[in-house]
Amino acid sequence: MIEDSAALETLLTEIVDRMSQAADKGAVADYIPELAAIDPAQFAISICLPDGRQISVGDVQADFSIQSISKVFTLAIALGRYGDTYWTRVGREPSTSVFNSVQELESRNGIPANPFVNSGAIATTDALLVGATPKETLGEILQFIRLAASDDDIYINPSIAESEKRTGHRNWSLAHFLKSCDNLRHECELTLGTYFHHCAISMNCAQLARTGRFLAGLHPAGTLILPAHVRSINALMMTCGHYNGSGEFAYRVGFPAKSGVSGGILAVIPKRASIAVWSPGLDRYGNSLLGTAALEEVSRRAGLSVF
Ligand code: DON
Repeated sequence: MIEDSAALETLLTEIVDRMSQAADKGAVADYIPELAAIDPAQFAISICLPDGRQISVGDVQADFSIQSISKVFTLAIALGRYGDTYWTRVGREPSTSVFNSVQELESRNGIPANPFVNSGAIATTDALLVGATPKETLGEILQFIRLAASDDDIYINPSIAESEKRTGHRNWSLAHFLKSCDNLRHECELTLGTYFHHCAISMNCAQLARTGRFLAGLHPAGTLILPAHVRSINALMMTCGHYNGSGEFAYRVGFPAKSGVSGGILAVIPKRASIAVWSPGLDRYGNSLLGTAALEEVSRRAGLSVF
């Protein structure tokens, strides 16, 4: 099916139409005021294929902040810089609580469960700040994402970063807890300021789909990171990419993916496709409700499960 562009576009259009009629679209994140204001009726899906084709349907021109999807890119940079020593600060086990749980971090004595829960990503950002200013670190992250997307028109949305800086009290407590366990090298203000800004990197669904090509082995420039790191990141996306909803996601959809609380999901089907989907309403785990339903259907109808 994915070899036939017309059939694939028909399938995606059908899915977008169905999603726009869904009565339950989930609930937009309201703990970040700027996200609470987003229209939940928007929906977009985009798929990049091995021969360079890209098919995009729905609200593909609308920008949204990628939030936790940025953790995939900070992990890629951190593994490149530190190799296996990165894992002295962050674990690689699925989490059993909500993505910003202080209790889970405490139960693990200040070593976050994995790089995708908030505490793990805050520790990663802190590692990237060693020897660099926040501005340089954010520049490096943006440069990596632009290269991955083959597109320089990708920026940070400062009002989303500010909105979260004011209200992200859970993240402040996670950062202070990491600090108390000697797992934060910089002041909370510096690390969190950088973290909030990379979560606020914004792009549209078509751009996001292109960023995933380096993890699917489909980037036109070849490899952007070591093949061993591609394998590690895909394994973590599969087991931890949807937090404590990762088992359910793997069961229903069947390929590695990372969600963000603004409703985006970046999915990787090794050697076959990179897919992004965006629908702002979330399920109880903080993952896109209709985005997951759409990926489940694409997976089933186009035969994309890795299992
Ligand atoms: O730190 C936060 O809470 C957000 N900037 C990112 C969390 C997130 O995307 C969770 N994902 N579903």
